[in-house]
Amino acid sequence: MNKNLSLAILLSGNGSNFQAIVDSIDKGQLKAAIKIVISNNKNAFGLKRAKKHNIKNLCIDHKNFADRESYDQRLIEIIEQEKVDFIVLAGFMRILGSNFVRHFPNKIINIHPSLLPKYPGLNTHKKVLENKDKEHGVTVHLVDEGLDSGPIIGFMKINVEDEEKENDLENKIHKIEHYIYPKILSEFQEGKITTAGNKIRIDDVFYKDGKEYFI
Ligand code: GRF
Repeated sequence: MNKNLSLAILLSGNGSNFQAIVDSIDKGQLKAAIKIVISNNKNAFGLKRAKKHNIKNLCIDHKNFADRESYDQRLIEIIEQEKVDFIVLAGFMRILGSNFVRHFPNKIINIHPSLLPKYPGLNTHKKVLENKDKEHGVTVHLVDEGLDSGPIIGFMKINVEDEEKENDLENKIHKIEHYIYPKILSEFQEGKITTAGNKIRIDDVFYKDGKEYFI
Protein backbone atom coordinates (compact mmCIF):
# COMPACT_ATOMS: atom_id res chain seq x y z
CA MET A 1 0.00 0.00 0.00
CA ASN A 2 1.91 3.07 -1.13
CA LYS A 3 -0.88 5.60 -1.28
CA ASN A 4 -1.85 7.57 1.81
CA LEU A 5 -3.94 5.55 4.21
CA SER A 6 -7.45 6.71 4.82
CA LEU A 7 -8.75 6.08 8.29
CA ALA A 8 -11.93 6.11 10.35
CA ILE A 9 -11.37 6.52 14.08
CA LEU A 10 -13.83 5.21 16.65
CA LEU A 11 -13.49 6.46 20.21
CA SER A 12 -15.47 6.98 23.39
CA GLY A 13 -13.31 9.13 25.61
CA ASN A 14 -10.21 11.26 25.91
CA GLY A 15 -8.80 10.35 22.51
CA SER A 16 -5.11 10.68 23.34
CA ASN A 17 -4.35 7.83 20.94
CA PHE A 18 -6.31 9.60 18.23
CA GLN A 19 -4.29 12.73 19.02
CA ALA A 20 -1.03 10.77 18.66
CA ILE A 21 -2.15 9.64 15.21
CA VAL A 22 -3.03 13.24 14.23
CA ASP A 23 0.36 14.46 15.49
CA SER A 24 2.17 11.78 13.56
CA ILE A 25 0.33 12.78 10.37
CA ASP A 26 1.12 16.46 11.02
CA LYS A 27 4.81 15.65 11.46
CA GLY A 28 4.81 13.79 8.14
CA GLN A 29 5.69 10.51 9.83
CA LEU A 30 2.40 8.82 9.01
CA LYS A 31 1.07 9.33 5.50
CA ALA A 32 -2.62 9.16 6.20
CA ALA A 33 -5.84 11.13 6.23
CA ILE A 34 -8.46 10.77 8.93
CA LYS A 35 -11.76 10.82 7.08
CA ILE A 36 -14.04 10.65 10.07
CA VAL A 37 -14.10 10.36 13.86
CA ILE A 38 -17.10 8.63 15.37
CA SER A 39 -17.97 8.43 19.04
CA ASN A 40 -20.81 6.72 20.84
CA ASN A 41 -20.45 9.34 23.60
CA LYS A 42 -21.36 12.93 22.84
CA ASN A 43 -19.14 14.17 25.68
CA ALA A 44 -16.03 12.40 24.47
CA PHE A 45 -13.09 14.80 24.57
CA GLY A 46 -11.88 13.06 21.41
CA LEU A 47 -14.73 14.76 19.50
CA LYS A 48 -13.45 18.17 20.65
CA ARG A 49 -9.98 17.23 19.46
CA ALA A 50 -11.44 16.31 16.05
CA LYS A 51 -13.27 19.65 15.80
CA LYS A 52 -10.10 21.51 16.68
CA HIS A 53 -8.30 19.78 13.81
CA ASN A 54 -11.21 20.27 11.39
CA ILE A 55 -11.76 16.55 11.06
CA LYS A 56 -15.27 15.39 10.26
CA ASN A 57 -16.77 14.04 13.46
CA LEU A 58 -20.05 12.81 14.79
CA CYS A 59 -21.64 11.13 17.73
CA ILE A 60 -23.81 8.10 17.13
CA ASP A 61 -25.24 7.32 20.50
CA HIS A 62 -25.96 3.63 21.01
CA LYS A 63 -28.76 4.59 23.41
CA ASN A 64 -30.82 5.69 20.40
CA PHE A 65 -30.80 2.21 18.87
CA ALA A 66 -32.92 -0.79 19.75
CA ASP A 67 -30.07 -3.29 19.72
CA ARG A 68 -26.42 -3.83 18.91
CA GLU A 69 -27.17 -5.01 15.40
CA SER A 70 -29.03 -1.86 14.36
CA TYR A 71 -26.36 0.33 15.94
CA ASP A 72 -23.58 -1.53 14.16
CA GLN A 73 -25.53 -1.37 10.89
CA ARG A 74 -25.65 2.42 11.12
CA LEU A 75 -21.90 2.50 11.77
CA ILE A 76 -21.33 0.30 8.72
CA GLU A 77 -23.38 2.64 6.51
CA ILE A 78 -21.53 5.73 7.66
CA ILE A 79 -18.07 4.20 7.45
CA GLU A 80 -18.80 2.70 4.00
CA GLN A 81 -19.44 6.20 2.65
CA GLU A 82 -15.93 7.24 3.67
CA LYS A 83 -14.21 4.39 1.81
CA VAL A 84 -11.46 3.97 4.37
CA ASP A 85 -8.58 1.50 4.40
CA PHE A 86 -8.73 0.94 8.16
CA ILE A 87 -11.09 1.43 11.06
CA VAL A 88 -8.94 2.36 14.02
CA LEU A 89 -10.38 1.76 17.47
CA ALA A 90 -8.93 4.28 19.90
CA GLY A 91 -10.62 3.69 23.22
CA PHE A 92 -13.99 2.73 21.71
CA MET A 93 -15.82 1.29 24.68
CA ARG A 94 -18.28 -0.89 22.82
CA ILE A 95 -18.09 -4.41 21.54
CA LEU A 96 -18.60 -4.55 17.80
CA GLY A 97 -20.93 -7.36 16.76
CA SER A 98 -20.11 -10.09 14.26
CA ASN A 99 -21.96 -8.37 11.40
CA PHE A 100 -19.71 -5.36 11.73
CA VAL A 101 -16.54 -7.41 12.10
CA ARG A 102 -17.39 -9.64 9.13
CA HIS A 103 -18.20 -6.60 7.03
CA PHE A 104 -14.65 -5.27 7.36
CA PRO A 105 -12.35 -8.30 7.37
CA ASN A 106 -8.78 -7.45 8.45
CA LYS A 107 -9.60 -3.76 8.37
CA ILE A 108 -10.36 -3.10 12.03
CA ILE A 109 -7.42 -2.44 14.34
CA ASN A 110 -7.48 -2.05 18.10
CA ILE A 111 -5.01 -1.05 20.79
CA HIS A 112 -5.34 -2.72 24.16
CA PRO A 113 -3.52 -1.84 27.39
CA SER A 114 -2.13 -5.26 28.27
CA LEU A 115 0.11 -7.93 26.84
CA LEU A 116 -2.60 -9.99 25.17
CA PRO A 117 -3.74 -12.71 25.50
CA LYS A 118 -3.24 -11.71 29.16
CA TYR A 119 -6.00 -9.50 30.56
CA PRO A 120 -8.57 -8.90 27.82
CA GLY A 121 -11.36 -6.52 28.87
CA LEU A 122 -11.25 -3.74 31.43
CA ASN A 123 -9.10 -2.77 34.45
CA THR A 124 -5.86 -4.19 33.08
CA HIS A 125 -3.57 -2.03 35.26
CA LYS A 126 -5.42 -3.11 38.38
CA LYS A 127 -5.07 -6.78 37.43
CA VAL A 128 -1.34 -6.37 36.77
CA LEU A 129 -0.86 -4.88 40.25
CA GLU A 130 -3.06 -7.46 41.97
CA ASN A 131 -1.07 -10.26 40.38
CA LYS A 132 2.26 -8.56 41.17
CA ASP A 133 3.32 -8.87 37.54
CA LYS A 134 6.78 -7.56 36.82
CA GLU A 135 5.95 -6.65 33.24
CA HIS A 136 3.02 -5.08 31.49
CA GLY A 137 2.46 -3.55 28.08
CA VAL A 138 0.24 -2.76 25.12
CA THR A 139 -0.92 -4.79 22.17
CA VAL A 140 -2.08 -3.72 18.73
CA HIS A 141 -4.24 -6.34 17.06
CA LEU A 142 -6.75 -6.99 14.33
CA VAL A 143 -10.28 -7.18 15.60
CA ASP A 144 -12.16 -10.45 15.30
CA GLU A 145 -15.46 -11.53 16.82
CA GLY A 146 -14.04 -12.20 20.28
CA LEU A 147 -13.10 -9.80 23.07
CA ASP A 148 -9.58 -8.44 22.45
CA SER A 149 -8.78 -11.73 20.77
CA GLY A 150 -7.86 -11.04 17.13
CA PRO A 151 -4.46 -11.71 15.53
CA ILE A 152 -1.70 -9.75 17.25
CA ILE A 153 0.29 -7.36 15.06
CA GLY A 154 2.70 -5.88 17.60
CA PHE A 155 3.28 -5.20 21.25
CA MET A 156 5.52 -3.20 23.56
CA LYS A 157 6.51 -3.98 27.14
CA ILE A 158 7.17 -1.90 30.24
CA ASN A 159 8.62 -2.95 33.58
CA VAL A 160 6.41 -2.65 36.62
CA GLU A 161 8.42 -1.14 39.48
CA ASP A 162 7.71 -1.66 43.18
CA GLU A 163 5.37 0.95 44.63
CA GLU A 164 3.85 1.86 41.27
CA LYS A 165 0.15 2.67 41.33
CA GLU A 166 -2.51 2.31 38.63
CA ASN A 167 -2.02 5.91 37.67
CA ASP A 168 1.73 5.45 37.14
CA LEU A 169 1.10 2.43 34.95
CA GLU A 170 -1.55 4.29 32.97
CA ASN A 171 0.91 7.09 32.21
CA LYS A 172 3.65 4.71 31.17
CA ILE A 173 1.24 2.72 29.03
CA HIS A 174 -0.06 5.83 27.26
CA LYS A 175 3.47 6.82 26.39
CA ILE A 176 4.16 3.56 24.54
CA GLU A 177 0.68 3.48 23.02
CA HIS A 178 1.31 6.86 21.46
CA TYR A 179 4.45 5.47 19.88
CA ILE A 180 3.32 2.06 18.67
CA TYR A 181 -0.10 2.91 17.21
CA PRO A 182 1.05 5.51 14.65
CA LYS A 183 4.16 3.40 13.97
CA ILE A 184 2.15 0.30 13.06
CA LEU A 185 -0.25 2.32 10.91
CA SER A 186 2.70 3.81 9.10
CA GLU A 187 4.15 0.34 8.48
CA PHE A 188 0.82 -0.67 6.93
CA GLN A 189 1.00 2.42 4.73
CA GLU A 190 4.54 1.59 3.63
CA GLY A 191 3.48 -1.96 2.79
CA LYS A 192 5.79 -3.41 5.47
CA ILE A 193 2.85 -5.04 7.24
CA THR A 194 0.44 -7.18 5.30
CA THR A 195 -2.26 -9.58 6.41
CA ALA A 196 -3.65 -12.72 4.86
CA GLY A 197 -6.37 -14.59 6.69
CA ASN A 198 -5.20 -14.49 10.29
CA LYS A 199 -1.52 -14.30 9.38
CA ILE A 200 0.49 -11.15 10.00
CA ARG A 201 3.56 -10.53 7.90
CA ILE A 202 6.02 -7.79 8.84
CA ASP A 203 9.11 -7.25 6.71
CA ASP A 204 8.82 -10.72 5.18
CA VAL A 205 8.53 -12.49 8.52
CA PHE A 206 5.32 -14.20 9.55
CA TYR A 207 4.36 -13.56 13.17
CA LYS A 208 2.09 -15.83 15.17
CA ASP A 209 2.16 -13.83 18.41
CA GLY A 210 3.01 -10.38 17.09
CA LYS A 211 6.28 -8.49 16.81
CA GLU A 212 7.84 -6.71 19.76
CA TYR A 213 8.44 -3.00 19.17
CA PHE A 214 10.93 -0.78 20.99
CA ILE A 215 11.14 3.00 21.18
C1 GRF B 1 -6.14 3.24 25.82
O1 GRF B 1 -5.46 2.83 26.97
C2 GRF B 1 -6.36 2.09 24.88
O2 GRF B 1 -5.39 1.10 24.98
C3 GRF B 1 -7.68 1.53 25.32
O3 GRF B 1 -8.43 2.65 25.73
C4 GRF B 1 -7.56 3.70 26.13
C5 GRF B 1 -7.95 4.92 25.36
O4 GRF B 1 -7.25 6.07 25.78
N1 GRF B 1 -8.30 0.76 24.27
P1 GRF B 1 -7.40 7.42 24.96
O5 GRF B 1 -8.88 7.76 24.88
O6 GRF B 1 -6.80 7.20 23.59
O7 GRF B 1 -6.63 8.44 25.74
